[in-house]
Amino acid sequence: MAPRLFDQRLALRRGWLSSGVWRFRELVDPELDEAAIVTLREGSTPLYDSSAVARWAGIEGLLLKHEGLNPTGSFKDRGMTVAVSRARRSGAQLLACASTGNTAASLAAYCAAARLACVVLAPLDGTAVGKLSQALAYGARTLLVRGDFDAALRLVRAEAARGGLALLNSVNPFRIEGQKAIVFELLQDLGWQPPDWIAFPAGNLGNCAAFGKALREALQVGLIERAPRLLAVQAAGAAPFAAAFERGFDALEPVAPSTVASAIRIGDPASYPRAVRAIRSTGGCVVAVEDAHLLEAKAVIDRAGIGCEPASAAALAGVRALVERGAVLRGERVVCVLTGHVLKDPDTTLAWQRGELEPQACGPRSGPEQIDATEDALRRALAAARARPDPPSGRSAGSGA
Ligand code: F0G
Repeated sequence: MAPRLFDQRLALRRGWLSSGVWRFRELVDPELDEAAIVTLREGSTPLYDSSAVARWAGIEGLLLKHEGLNPTGSFKDRGMTVAVSRARRSGAQLLACASTGNTAASLAAYCAAARLACVVLAPLDGTAVGKLSQALAYGARTLLVRGDFDAALRLVRAEAARGGLALLNSVNPFRIEGQKAIVFELLQDLGWQPPDWIAFPAGNLGNCAAFGKALREALQVGLIERAPRLLAVQAAGAAPFAAAFERGFDALEPVAPSTVASAIRIGDPASYPRAVRAIRSTGGCVVAVEDAHLLEAKAVIDRAGIGCEPASAAALAGVRALVERGAVLRGERVVCVLTGHVLKDPDTTLAWQRGELEPQACGPRSGPEQIDATEDALRRALAAARARPDPPSGRSAGSGA
């Protein structure tokens, strides 16, 4: 298959083929016709190059694919355009998902656009306020479950099996088909020259499964000649996949998840078998990073003017950990997928800036300051701002490079 087909569509400004998912329709869902498609023009996200971020990771060739710049602020929109289109065409009456927040926001938006009813279940404790407010704004029936994500997913899966609803979690195969487009698009951004690694945060493992499938297919149809290695990064307090990797993928042992990165606070990931296949088939790696390190990575990404939610920054912290171990070489090219927007979880950003989180973590932090509404007070603050230039980016600026 010639990349030209997909490259020609880059010039389109309107219509469904201008979507960064449907641009790859032949590889995503060739059978669905235009009339059936529910799209919010997802995809076409930027691939950023920041020397400050690369320096912190300890390598030169680091790029950031910002999936937080999708219509609802996360990569979930890529899968949702396909899965909601399919659900509508099959006549589904009620669409539902369990979610740590982003899937809920995305499903709510696509259902609103398609005029379909939807119910979202999210943990009562810890669902980020940006995500919750989105689900409500787009009109989803929003149920806060007294339990974690894993409990909520068990509930909706059981109900879906009884035929009570259409399940839109990433166990829905059409979600995976859409999420493959993250990989197709980043390969296209690079002129179909694959990087050495693709790093991404891992929770329920839908993305890991999707990336593995995308790379297998890109190889099969001849879009690329070699596959990058996948690097899945988990938060240390919610890392059953990383633990299984360390044991040679013997079996998944669910954990009681705990991490500041609420998006990936998941202890019993649903797509484990497909994710194992993705890591194995690309010679990939799974690593866990401490909350302090992913928060530091977030501060570095934020200070570069790029910004992301805490879970997304785990990818960068994982790259840095592997560079320190010598598993990622300094000369290798790495693309980090930033999965969610900086505005998704403002509470965590504020808590970090106020110094209320992870006292052992260091890194750029300014903290909000209160001033009187006087010119004098403003002038004093301006003088302090001039005298205090930004600190170098993080713990590593010295040690890494
Ligand atoms: N990053 C963000 C911002 C997420 O919201 C998620 C998952 C992930 C990474 C992990 O992706 O589950 O495919 O391994 N969020 C889901 C949700 C669980 O409900 O929004 P994964």
